[in-house]
Amino acid sequence: MDITRDIKYIGVNDHQIDLFEGQYIVPNGMAYNSYAIIDEKIAVMDSVDARFKDEWLSNIKTALNGREPDYLIVQHMEPDHSANISAFMAAYPNAVMVATAKAFVMLQNFYLESYAHRRIEVKEGDTLSLGKHTLSFVTAPMVHWPEVMVTYDSLDKVLFSADAFGKFGALDVEEDWACEARRYYIGIVGKYGAQVQALLKKADALEINTICPLHGPVLKDNLEYYIGLYNIWSSYETESEGVVIAYTSVYGNTKKAVELLENKLKEAGCKKVAVNDLARCDMAEAVEDAFRYGKIVLATTTYNSDIFPFMKEFINHLTERNFQNKTVGIIENGSWAPTAAKVIKEMLEKSKNITFADTEIKIMSALSEENKQQLEALAKELA
Ligand code: FEO
Repeated sequence: MDITRDIKYIGVNDHQIDLFEGQYIVPNGMAYNSYAIIDEKIAVMDSVDARFKDEWLSNIKTALNGREPDYLIVQHMEPDHSANISAFMAAYPNAVMVATAKAFVMLQNFYLESYAHRRIEVKEGDTLSLGKHTLSFVTAPMVHWPEVMVTYDSLDKVLFSADAFGKFGALDVEEDWACEARRYYIGIVGKYGAQVQALLKKADALEINTICPLHGPVLKDNLEYYIGLYNIWSSYETESEGVVIAYTSVYGNTKKAVELLENKLKEAGCKKVAVNDLARCDMAEAVEDAFRYGKIVLATTTYNSDIFPFMKEFINHLTERNFQNKTVGIIENGSWAPTAAKVIKEMLEKSKNITFADTEIKIMSALSEENKQQLEALAKELA
């Protein structure tokens, strides 16, 4: 696949994977993107997951049509992109690896290699000429790891964006970009909004026609749409109007409260209510929803003088990703000493700009008449 006249796609699709990065389900697989820039000199951009060594080396061979690559540019050392560096360097003994100083430290730690005489260490603003194409390196620490850089080709106006603008899903499956890009972004980079904002500022100074990420499709048209979403996500602003309800229920009573609240919210004019049963849903999808909408209701039971484990895990996922700028409603259930609301508030204590709804709901086992009225009041308050 040609991205431009001189840039070819040489990545792979993975439909064997069960969990990406050991935790994310990827029903439509995963793509590990790699690109070849063919000029007087040839640069290969990043490698792919270990399991696709032969396919990737074969893709390189086909794309290069008898020529040999001069450079392997490694923008990110996470093994989904770095695992085949050694195979590449063995297959092309004259090639030189290009990466940041931090990446070379990781190279030693992961693969016990240094390529001391076959490396170019680059930093912010350094350039590499391939002939007509000049590549500029832009550091992007913590998008997604500290060693990350992105690369700009000023001739074709292409930004090789590393993990930024990536998504779950292989490239041979048609699916909505935003849904799986958001789940990927919030899950993997969500904590590092400030660093993504810094990268967006640097990118703003470049004229970009095409974004080539390490996962997901190459983006060519309507780039403002993708950059706009990245701006919303990394600044923790509300993307969509609506209310998320995240809940756990042991005997079904908390679930009844959630169903009643969902109906009341819709009656009150709320167009979108996203409901997630945290014991059964994809946790990453629930976390994604929590960041997407501006209002969230947490409904859970007291458990071991604490809160139910799935809710605890969920809130931990939120706070460790800098959850902020939300209105939060709480429904707690407890048969003798409800403490869930107190625990939730304590867990969110350090989160910035959290406003708790005025209506607080305490269920003592099953829904009382008073609880039903409170649910109506909460629905009106949030809608
Ligand atoms: Fe796709 Fe952070 O590796």
